[in-house]
Amino acid sequence: MTGNSFLDAAVQAPAELLEILAHFESLAYLVAALLFILALAGLSRQKTAQRGNNFGIAGMALALVAVILVTVASDNSGAVLAVLLMVAALAIGAVLGVRKARSVQMTEMPQLVAMLHSFVGAAAVLVAFGSFLTAPGQATAGAENTFHMAETGLAVFIGAVTLTGSVIAYLKLAAKISGKPLTLPYRNMLNLAMVIASLALIVWFTTSEGVAAGIVPLVILTIVSLVLGLHLVMAIGGGDMPVVISMLNSYSGWAAAMVGLTLGNDLLIITGALVGSSGAYLSWIMCQGMNRSFVSVILGGYGTDSQPSTQGGEAIQLEHTETSPENVASLLKNAKSVVITPGYGMAVAQAQFPVADLTRKLIDAGVDVKFGIHPVAGRMPGHMNVLLAEAKVPYDAVYEMDEINDDFGDVDVVLVIGANDTVNPSAATEPSSPIAGMPVLHVWEAGKVIVSKRKMGSTGYSGVDNPLFYNENTDMLLGDAKESVEAIIAAL
Ligand code: TAP
Repeated sequence: MTGNSFLDAAVQAPAELLEILAHFESLAYLVAALLFILALAGLSRQKTAQRGNNFGIAGMALALVAVILVTVASDNSGAVLAVLLMVAALAIGAVLGVRKARSVQMTEMPQLVAMLHSFVGAAAVLVAFGSFLTAPGQATAGAENTFHMAETGLAVFIGAVTLTGSVIAYLKLAAKISGKPLTLPYRNMLNLAMVIASLALIVWFTTSEGVAAGIVPLVILTIVSLVLGLHLVMAIGGGDMPVVISMLNSYSGWAAAMVGLTLGNDLLIITGALVGSSGAYLSWIMCQGMNRSFVSVILGGYGTDSQPSTQGGEAIQLEHTETSPENVASLLKNAKSVVITPGYGMAVAQAQFPVADLTRKLIDAGVDVKFGIHPVAGRMPGHMNVLLAEAKVPYDAVYEMDEINDDFGDVDVVLVIGANDTVNPSAATEPSSPIAGMPVLHVWEAGKVIVSKRKMGSTGYSGVDNPLFYNENTDMLLGDAKESVEAIIAAL
């Protein structure tokens, strides 16, 4: 009750209006679901990503309007209070969200995403509890009730795992706790025992009758699932966190879908399934790009704080050739075709703006310039694409690894900007290399390779030295990538 009879009376809608709104709700959910599908389709390509994002915003706005209108028109006496609470929550969330989005650095994006996933997990647990406490058993009988209870239990299980897993992922990525994997003895058995216990608790919960009997297994299930999420991600090394984030993204989607089933909300089911399956697919692509198996990532124990592995601890003692920005400028000016392969170093140096500037200058001078993007270049999915889009590099100059890898033999100059593992030939040629089998950009097949990095002797993410730097057709341009590219532009 709102306690305000005037307001309550004002929202007592006539029967016809209620019927119209019921139809509007179904239609709005259907359109919103279509908009979410269009959003995902748009986001899959850089050229259409902005449009995809707009579709997503429109879908979410429509869903929110539908929920608010339907609540206003419901004959529930607490409708006004519910709407006021929703609007207040939306306003607070929007203010916090906009502030965070404006202030977050691109390099802090993975931890922000991890934190947001923890909210989805928490929401799934809270909604499942709310649904059980307000309508235990939904007053339905038989199989329908069993399904409803099982969905509630699953929503709590997946939501709680997502909640603590995402909080730990956030803390590791933000370097607030060590990125080292926690490898307790029998940790896999421990996880298995917690999964089995959770399933048993869901069965107990499903077969219980009433709030008093059901709340006990539900609370124990929540605690066990929270510990499982925490332990699962604590056991995974900081370096595997980007894969874990996309895996938790998938979990958060399935948790939302379970909540949708519990509430009988079609839009939540569709949206949750879209997020769940796209997150799982992205995790799979990232594992392929790193030549890791999905199971080995989940079982954890791989990687340390920053340098996951070293190749016998010894750097290759070979001669390398150094070059200058002036030499690189004249090489680029006289080339017919140039491919730029950016990596993590470009992100660290924030060199994307001078790189975009250099690209425009070369294109204007009649040079064919393309970008070759490795699927796991940088430290998060699409890292390079986001940076290049931010710097307004023309979309049609940006190629995925598979689209460009066969063409390096015809390229005059490759400019490697802060990339290391993703252009390491030993992945393709040395079966004993720790990164053997990882697909890499075949830059060494080009006429000339210029590598921009700060110093010799340092490695990339995998801790493996790179024989590319000592090839006859490779010249090293040592120094910060941003300064180096600016110096090339000045020389041009
Ligand atoms: P890395 O192999 O990490 O190499 C980065 C390179 O950038 C190093 O050679 C480093 O050398 C150089 N660098 C750093 N700061 C620089 C600066 N200010 N100016 C110029 N150069 C600088 O990068 P990559 O080739 O992009 O490979 C990514 C790695 O991350 C892969 O091993 C991948 O498996 C892993 N990983 C990726 C993801 C995703 S989703 N992208 C997720 C998890 C793991 P100096 O220190 O000498 O400058």
